[in-house]
Amino acid sequence: MSEVPKAFPESAGQRPRYGVDAPGVPVLFAAAGAACCLAAAARWPGRIPLAAAGTILLANAAVYLHTTLRGKLRIWERELDRAGLQGHEHLLDLGCGRGAVLIAAARRLPAGRAVGADLWTRDQSGNSPDLTLANAARAGVADRVEVHTADMTALPFPDDSFDVVTSAMAIHNIRSPEGRHRALDEALRVLRPGGKLLIADPWPMARKYVAHLGHGTLRSLGPGYWYGGPWLGVTLLSAVKERPS
Ligand SMILES: C[S@@+](CC[C@H](N)C(=O)[O-])C[C@H]1O[C@@H](n2cnc3c(N)ncnc32)[C@H](O)[C@@H]1O
Repeated sequence: MSEVPKAFPESAGQRPRYGVDAPGVPVLFAAAGAACCLAAAARWPGRIPLAAAGTILLANAAVYLHTTLRGKLRIWERELDRAGLQGHEHLLDLGCGRGAVLIAAARRLPAGRAVGADLWTRDQSGNSPDLTLANAARAGVADRVEVHTADMTALPFPDDSFDVVTSAMAIHNIRSPEGRHRALDEALRVLRPGGKLLIADPWPMARKYVAHLGHGTLRSLGPGYWYGGPWLGVTLLSAVKERPS
């Protein structure tokens, strides 16, 4: 494949903005951390544990913000490079949000298509189809990006219609295990035989996904994808849809 164009071409007016994942979580970490530090400064009983807890919570908020604003973008650049895209693939991103993964993929698909599906819940600040398309335009890839309002447990796409299916921090939002399994089954249904599945989700979930699919490999994506600390680290599930024998 030819060289991947820059994430933000000089010709574009504004940088894409991908928002904050589950924005209530870092706010909670920061508020609880600040409260503990203030209580310690006011010499409440148990000052030292309070100060320690406050520092840890504030550090969690900082790590979380780094992951959602920068870390995950860098990691998906690396993972999409590793995926060995040829540039003509049709790729579907489940729970695309404001397009962090969708647009990074589209930059690698000059002759392909990057399709996003989302229900635009509050799991990412300000997510909307218009904003995702505006981000695609800012990144110079609007010609090959489309977005659909769709539930990933019932996708409006035919069988075997994509070469690659990605999903980043989205499937775990489905509350029931049955619903998450339906999303995985849908991802496989729309993937062509021999196509690639790449799913990034918290590690306890990713382990269950592999058990449901019956195949696939798991790899931790490292500290750059920690939503606070290692206990909220993200694992990548990679699988290839089997060809009928
Ligand atoms: C944390 S955001 C991640 C967005 C994007 N993948 C990223 O990494 O920046 C999770 C996204 O999943 C979407 N989502 C949650 N449940 C969904 C469902 N059942 N079907 C489609 N999208 C869903 C939310 O609306 C949200 O945009």
